[in-house]
Amino acid sequence: MTTTLITGANRGLGLETARRLIDIGHTVLLGARDARRGAEAAAEIGAVPLVIDVTSEDSVRAAAESLDGLDVLVNNAGVPGAVLPPGQASPADLLAAYEINLFGPVRVLNAVLPLLESSPNPVVVNVSSRLGSIAAAAKPDPTADDPHWIPVPVYSSAKAALNMLTAQYARAFPAMRINSVCPGFTATDFNGHRGVQTVAEGAEIIVRMATTGPDGPTGGFFSRHGEVAW
Ligand SMILES: NC(=O)c1ccc[n+]([C@@H]2O[C@H](COP(=O)([O-])OP(=O)(O)OC[C@H]3O[C@@H](n4cnc5c(N)ncnc54)[C@H](OP(=O)(O)O)[C@@H]3O)[C@@H](O)[C@H]2O)c1
Repeated sequence: MTTTLITGANRGLGLETARRLIDIGHTVLLGARDARRGAEAAAEIGAVPLVIDVTSEDSVRAAAESLDGLDVLVNNAGVPGAVLPPGQASPADLLAAYEINLFGPVRVLNAVLPLLESSPNPVVVNVSSRLGSIAAAAKPDPTADDPHWIPVPVYSSAKAALNMLTAQYARAFPAMRINSVCPGFTATDFNGHRGVQTVAEGAEIIVRMATTGPDGPTGGFFSRHGEVAW
């Protein structure tokens, strides 16, 4: 039996990932910061609701302490943050987005590390974004390869830092499979449903990396089409 925690799973890609993992037999702890929204979503798909606000040390600690064991963590909760060009985004804008998109995954992962270390096949999936790729941002025209690339330094820098943490944690914990994934531009509330992929397509790489075995990759950055340049 595989027990999987997904943060921010009451809607969007997290909910779809939860649904897919339940279909293949995982016990899914459906993380949601709002108890009612979490309970409703969990009841809809047969998950176990877990209140967890990734910006709150107390909430994350309480959630971790309520668990008997954990095999898979999907750090999915995220926000776009302030959509402002370089020069207009302030440190406060960055901090607000980092609280959820960067410090959130660190809080949750650190809190559940002892549980993961007791699992026979521990897996961590950090839901990142191609917008966090420094290789892409450094190109003369990033939109040549990715028509959906946009200059959003607040969001992109959080995901770039998350990618570095993926590499660092993977090196520090070689018994775990720890990867970053880019779901691709997916129609969810996150982008006012302007995304060009379905949630089923977006969740594909999250599910694939969440179900990777001991011989699977670690310390990598993947989309459903293959490796993504850091
Ligand atoms: N959609 C895309 O095109 C796309 C592309 C690349 C990467 N991503 C990444 O994929 C992940 C999921 O995105 P999505 O499109 O599914 O977004 P979404 O539909 O907006 O869902 C975001 C989820 O995060 C939760 N959340 C926000 N703040 C939270 C907090 N402090 N604690 C716990 N949960 C919190 C939300 O909960 P509430 O309902 O309570 O607000 C919601 O469940 C994000 O990390 C995003 O950066 C998305």
